[in-house]
Amino acid sequence: MKVLIVGSGGREHAIASRVVLNKDVEKIYCAPGNAGIAALAECVDIKAMEFEKIRDFAVSKEVDLVIIGMDDPLVGGLTDILEEAGLRVFGPRKNAAILEGSKAFSKDLMKKYNIPTASYETFDDPSAAVEYLKTAPMPTVLKADGLALGKGVLICQTLEEAIEGVKTIMEDKAFGDAGNRLVVEEFMVGREVSVLSFVDGKTIKTMTSAQDHKRAGDGDTGLNTGGMGTFSPSPFYTEEVDEFCKKYIYQATVDAMAKEGRPFKGIIFFGLMLTKNGPRVLEYNARFGDPEAQVVLPRMENDLVEVMQACIDGRLDTVDLKFSDNAAVCVVLASGGYPVSYRKGYKISGLDSFEGKNDYFCFHAGTAQKDGDIVTSGGRVLGITALGDDLKNARAKAYEACKWVEFTDMYKRNDIGKAIDEA
Ligand code: AMP
Ligand code: GLY
Repeated sequence: MKVLIVGSGGREHAIASRVVLNKDVEKIYCAPGNAGIAALAECVDIKAMEFEKIRDFAVSKEVDLVIIGMDDPLVGGLTDILEEAGLRVFGPRKNAAILEGSKAFSKDLMKKYNIPTASYETFDDPSAAVEYLKTAPMPTVLKADGLALGKGVLICQTLEEAIEGVKTIMEDKAFGDAGNRLVVEEFMVGREVSVLSFVDGKTIKTMTSAQDHKRAGDGDTGLNTGGMGTFSPSPFYTEEVDEFCKKYIYQATVDAMAKEGRPFKGIIFFGLMLTKNGPRVLEYNARFGDPEAQVVLPRMENDLVEVMQACIDGRLDTVDLKFSDNAAVCVVLASGGYPVSYRKGYKISGLDSFEGKNDYFCFHAGTAQKDGDIVTSGGRVLGITALGDDLKNARAKAYEACKWVEFTDMYKRNDIGKAIDEA
């Protein structure tokens, strides 16, 4: 079979590295892909938001399965366009991807179906938001309604900051049209956990847990990024937490979407906060997390393509989803200056050190080929993942492997997985 993967990051490289293991897969295409994915797939020069071009390409190559890795095309309705052309697609339709595409939608859904989350109010008018904030407890959380590369969330300590934040999101439109609507949310305290799941419209099977590190600097300082590193499993995701989430969050979300006439097929990513009053949903995403995928997929024992096919066909209940009893840590190697401004085009050396090592993965995110070399081409450049018997061992191996590669201005966090020591 022929598979087309849509996207260009470490997540798509991690997906491709599993798809290639399926014995029925004879050809993988990736649009647009990157220099690492190019070792497994034929990368085609079509961007993820060029829907008609993707459709025409997939039809002309008689692709059997399209896997959409990224949020923007899912929220924009790529699945619908491809399905209308008769293609098989892994990833939710537009009316279901709204679970990630609109925070106002997801908050209203949780409220209506009693799914535990922070209390909130939604505003279309900045002055109404400011009036409300005058009586709201501080700190408070402001969220642009739409997609904002994971950056549309402001945590405000004081009323002044909150008023400034309303201006930033709704008037200055720092996150574009994503800020036409604003969600003001109760500030919660606790540890964060990411739980990804496969969903076939009615059945949900959760994967092993993971934890991301969203801030750019050590000790969770600096700006929010797409994610600077992950570990899996989270030692804080206990059986008790799992039981609570199974009872009140996971199936409840899938059932709620089905009841709303928006059956969800694909990946639901639950961003959870473990508060002292129990787990609460921080956010939903409609795709694998990145870099969560880079620690979760290497631990998965099932054939990824088979599980995806089961989701599309609505027979996920027959799948026994299994993860190895080990651990993984991913450290992101970024371009110095990310997430603000950084230079690209630096040669990356040492990539061949990963060849033939089963416990180590070098997932490419922002890389490109230039004059026979592999060069940096984005903020997050590589995700260095290691498997270990336990989290400490995996972390030591991941940081060791970070030394194998080099490029100018390389930046990484040095405390990925530090929370492991507190478990
Ligand atoms: P989100 O994009 O909704 O996951 O928000 C990005 C980050 O902001 C989260 O990973 C949390 O660290 C933080 N955050 C979001 N909502 C809240 C909240 N209600 N209380 C505290 N922190 C939050
Ligand atoms: N790592 C967080 C995300 O993919 O949204």
